[in-house]
This record gives sequence, C-alpha cells and structure tokens, in this order.
Amino acid sequence: MPPDSFKWWGSFGLRVFYASAVCDYAVYVLDKYKLYVNTTITYWRFRVKKGAFIIKPQHWKYKKVPARRRRDRKVRGRFVAELIAFFSRRDENYVNGLIKVLNRGNTETVASILQKLTGAELFQIEPVQPYAKDYNECIAQAQEDQRRSARPELKAYPDSISGYDTIYLGYPNYWGTMPMAVFTFLEHFDFSGKTIRPFCTHEGSGFGNSLEDIRKACPGAKVEQGIAIRGGSAEQCGKELEKWI
Ligand SMILES: Cc1cc2nc3c(=O)[nH]c(=O)nc-3n(C[C@H](O)[C@H](O)[C@H](O)COP(=O)(O)O)c2cc1C
Repeated sequence: MPPDSFKWWGSFGLRVFYASAVCDYAVYVLDKYKLYVNTTITYWRFRVKKGAFIIKPQHWKYKKVPARRRRDRKVRGRFVAELIAFFSRRDENYVNGLIKVLNRGNTETVASILQKLTGAELFQIEPVQPYAKDYNECIAQAQEDQRRSARPELKAYPDSISGYDTIYLGYPNYWGTMPMAVFTFLEHFDFSGKTIRPFCTHEGSGFGNSLEDIRKACPGAKVEQGIAIRGGSAEQCGKELEKWI
C-alpha cells in the first residue's frame, strides 16, 4: 500500500489538469460573450522545458479592470476604447410612409442597442437651438441650414477624444447627408489616427453623401464603410449590429 502522501501527490497532476481545463473554459466563455468589458481572467501557465514540467503560478486570479479601462473592449486581440457619438431627434417624423410622433429618435434607439453590445461611452450631439417638433417645419429648417452650410452651436462636447481609438458616429440622413450639427461636432476635434465607424438611419437613401463628407471633415481618420438602417427597423437591428461590430 503506498502511503497517503503518495496518493495525494499522485492525484496532484490530475487536479492541475482539471483546474487548467476549468480556467480554459472560463476564458472561452468570457471571450464568447465579450465579457472582457468588466473582467479579465488569466490562468496558470504550463511550460515544458528540457523535459521538466514547470508550473508558473503567476496568475490564477480574478482581476478587476481599473475604472478607466472598464469600457474598453477586446477587438481582434487588443483592448480598444470606444465612444458612441450620435445625433437624433424625437417628436414628429416620417416613418414607413406615415407621420408619427417618436418618444425616442431612431438613431438614439440604434445607439442605445450599440451601447449595450459594446459597453462604449455614449454622447449625444445636441444643438443649442433644436429643430422644430413639427416634421414639415423641421425639414424646412434643416434644408435651410444645409443651404447656407450652417454650423449650429452645440450644447456640449466630450472633454477630449484622445483616449478613444474608435468613434461610432450615428446620425439620421438629412437631405442626403448628416445634420449640420454633426459637421460642427466633427470639425471641433482632430480625428487623425482614429477609426470612425458611421451608422446612419434613413427613410430610403442610406448614407447618401455622408461618408464622403465625414472623410472630408476628418482628414487622417480611417472612416469605415459603416451600417445604414431603415428608421422603422431601428428597434429590431440588434442582430445586424452584432454582426457589424
Ligand atoms: C430634416 C429631415 C431630412 C430628411 N432627409 C432624408 C433624406 O434625404 N433621405 C432619407 O432617406 N431620409 C431622410 N429623412 C428621414 C430620416 O433620415 C429618418 O427618419 C431617420 O431615421 C430619423 O432619425 P432620428 O429619429 O434619429 O432623428 C429626413 C428626416 C428629416 C427630419
């Protein structure tokens, strides 16, 4: 009969094996459900060196990510800090051929779904002087703003965009491009070196000329192809967004 201590050491290898399998599975689950947002788990590393089985217990802890990094997300193996900046207007709008009163703008709906999927910081681009609640009045005001290349004053800006790698830029298609307040926002910062991922809601014209306009307003930024969503489908765009991000 081997002494008890032998049995214990004999099963030690198995325990280590099970522990590593459990950790691997935990990392796989975190990866699958993108739970890096709040946590990272690293685990014991095993290395075979010159025939010796070396256990490096350098990790095996549940590590809280510092607050500054909380909203970072792992994309293609590296953490990125993301901001969602969007313009949206509630009240009367034209949706699927009918004038409707919206309690929440379509782009805001898309932005909030995107926020849940990415954990990114949200910022709403709001002009000091909002457009009229009445749809017909609003389209006339927006057209006039576009005609005279207005740069409406904004209520606020993010303190800085230097901490973000990626900016999701959301807006409705207004007369074939972005609302002029979005131009004000883009011209306020230096986006060079940043990735801009546009998302747009519309009633049939998709992005219109907005992608070219973003590229002109943000020289040096990488402006991606983006995603255009029909305003009336904003509530149901979760799956499409998930594929896109
Ligand atoms: C002033 C104005 C201009 C618009 N121009 C267009 C347009 O040129 N092409 C288009 O497809 N939709 C156009 N639309 C429809 C909006 O893009 C669409 O309803 C969008 O989902 C509104 O987003 P929001 O609710 O976030 O403001 C326009 C709407 C408004 C209010």
